[in-house]
Amino acid sequence: MGKLKSIYKAVTSVVYRWAMSLEEAELLMRYTRDGDHLEIGTLWGGSAIGVAMAKQSGEVYCIDPFNYTDKIAGRGERKVTIEEVKENIAMLGVTTVHLYKQKHPPMPPSLEKHKFDTALIDGEHTLDACLANWMDVKDRVDKYILFHDIDFVRRVKPVWKLALQDPEWKFVEVAEDMGVVRRIT
Ligand SMILES: C[S@@+](CC[C@H](N)C(=O)[O-])C[C@H]1O[C@@H](n2cnc3c(N)ncnc32)[C@H](O)[C@@H]1O
Repeated sequence: MGKLKSIYKAVTSVVYRWAMSLEEAELLMRYTRDGDHLEIGTLWGGSAIGVAMAKQSGEVYCIDPFNYTDKIAGRGERKVTIEEVKENIAMLGVTTVHLYKQKHPPMPPSLEKHKFDTALIDGEHTLDACLANWMDVKDRVDKYILFHDIDFVRRVKPVWKLALQDPEWKFVEVAEDMGVVRRIT
C-alpha cells in the first residue's frame, strides 16, 4: 500500500469522520507536502492530521469554531469538540498541528503576519463564507490553494471559478470534488 493510502487508513481508523474521499485526500496530501499549511474547516481533524503525517516540512494551522454538529446517515448526530480533535491528533502521534477556535475570517491575531505555502478552503459552504475565505487567504499563500466541494454549484463552485480567473492564480488539477490552483505571480 502506498504511503498516502496508509495515512488515510490510519487517520480514518481514529477520527469519527474524514469528510473526503481517498482520492481527494491523496490530492490534498500531495500538494501540501512542503511548508506551512493553513486549513479553514477542520471538523474532526482528519484532513489536518493527514496533511501533517504526509508532510516533509512545515506545520499545519487550523481555523474552525470546533462546534459543528455532524450528521451521518445511519449514525445520527455528534457534536465536534476541540478536546476530541486534540485527542485525535495525540492518538496519531502528531505534534505539528495548531488549532485556532474561531471562525475565519478574520485571521487569528497571532497568524496575521504569517505567510503560508499552501491552504485548504473547506469551511462553511455558503457563497458568502467561501468568498470571504478566498479573498482573505489568497494573499497569504505562496504556492497552492485547494478548494473542497467545488461541485456545490451555487456556493463553492462560483468561488472556485473566480480563483481560476484570478490573474495571480492558475488551474492545476481536480480530483473528484477537490480542486487545486497555483500562484503564478
Ligand atoms: C466540511 S467540514 C471540514 C472537513 C474537514 N476538512 C475534513 O476533511 O474532515 C466544515 C468545517 O468548517 C467549519 N466552519 C464553518 N464555518 C467556518 C468558518 N467561518 N471558518 C472556519 N471554519 C468554519 C465547521 O465547523 C466544520 O468543522
